[in-house]
Amino acid sequence: MTPLLSPELRRELQTLVARPVAWAAPMAAHTSLKIGGPAEALVILESIEEITALLVFARQHGLPWRVLGKGSNLLIADDGLAGMTLVLGAAFHLLEKTGEREIAAGAASALPALSYFCQGQGLAGLEFAAGIPGSLGGAVVMNAGAFGGQIADCLSEIDLCGEDGVQTLPATELCFGYRTWLDAAKWIGGLISQSVIVAARFVLHEDEPAAIAARMRQYQQTRRASQPQGVASAGSFFKNPPGDSAGRLIDACGLKGRRFGDAMVSPAHANFLVNCGQASATDMCELARQVCEEVFRRHGIHLEREVEAW
Ligand code: FAD
Ligand code: EPU
Repeated sequence: MTPLLSPELRRELQTLVARPVAWAAPMAAHTSLKIGGPAEALVILESIEEITALLVFARQHGLPWRVLGKGSNLLIADDGLAGMTLVLGAAFHLLEKTGEREIAAGAASALPALSYFCQGQGLAGLEFAAGIPGSLGGAVVMNAGAFGGQIADCLSEIDLCGEDGVQTLPATELCFGYRTWLDAAKWIGGLISQSVIVAARFVLHEDEPAAIAARMRQYQQTRRASQPQGVASAGSFFKNPPGDSAGRLIDACGLKGRRFGDAMVSPAHANFLVNCGQASATDMCELARQVCEEVFRRHGIHLEREVEAW
């Protein structure tokens, strides 16, 4: 990674945010796969003003930037990330009941916290999210889902912060699909690619807290029984192809336990590629390549990665 920020730019960047910028921050500490080289500048943002100032600064100096959520769907290069990696701080963790069936949440909120908050309010619809270790911002971008539910089902609107401040978009204007939120053609060069999701609102339905909790327990049990526990992963590595399951296809190739370095196809669930200790991004990419090649050879199906590579 070739650093892009001169000492002068570093000093200027630090004047724009209250929290100390972390320089050359190892990203392995910020991803569920425990993989990733240093981020040149890891910047924690605590206000809308800081976000707008950072976006203007990035444009003025031609600096690349991206938003890091909980890092649970990312494979970050061993070489690291040049430019600015933005993280929403505690100011974006707010969870609030705003109406009889309405919840507002900051984009940095953890999905399990949001799910349990709704359950406590007797509001159903987000119980599928209790076991997904992402942030709300990341869940909107991925249209995270499980057990027949997905974020798009009960999302009513999002707040996006760009250079000019916050704009609210109704969920009906977002083109959600399976593990995706955008019709890229519609938005290329548009608002979303230049913005940070800062909040979202949901309309849910009323139910007994005990009944909601029972469903959450059931989902968690199913997850524990079918997915690897206590190992570094990014969840499902590949999307399911239409009408089939990537896990079933990989398993049928006999690939469970296949290793490349410390990257391994989980023996518990074949669509989880796990880091057994010191796996690099290069190891993980090579293992994923071998899996794709074998699945195509045996089944004639191209697997598409769900995990985003940075
Ligand atoms: P990150 O991985 O940090 O980022 C993902 C994308 O979102 C990036 O493009 C990032 O730039 C963007 N992003 C994040 N925050 C913002 C923001 N505020 N504004 C703009 N862009 C933003 N996923 C499922 O769908 N269902 C599951 O059942 C599931 N189970 C999982 C189980 C495990 C053990 C693990 C490790 C992962 C699992 N996942 C699952 C994957 C992952 O948790 C989800 O995709 C989650 O929504 C990603 O959120 P994140 O905050 O970690 O996003
Ligand atoms: N299967 C195998 N072998 C395996 C794994 C699965 O044969 O090693 C079979 C199962 O027996 C089952 C089928 O494949 O018949 C589907 O498996 P599972 O029920 O585990 O669901 P999945 O399709 O693999 C999806 C999501 C998960 C989500 C679960 C629960 C995708 C890519 N994955 O998994 O999401 O938690 O359903 O709803 O859509 C994620 O996106 O990161 C993720 C974990």
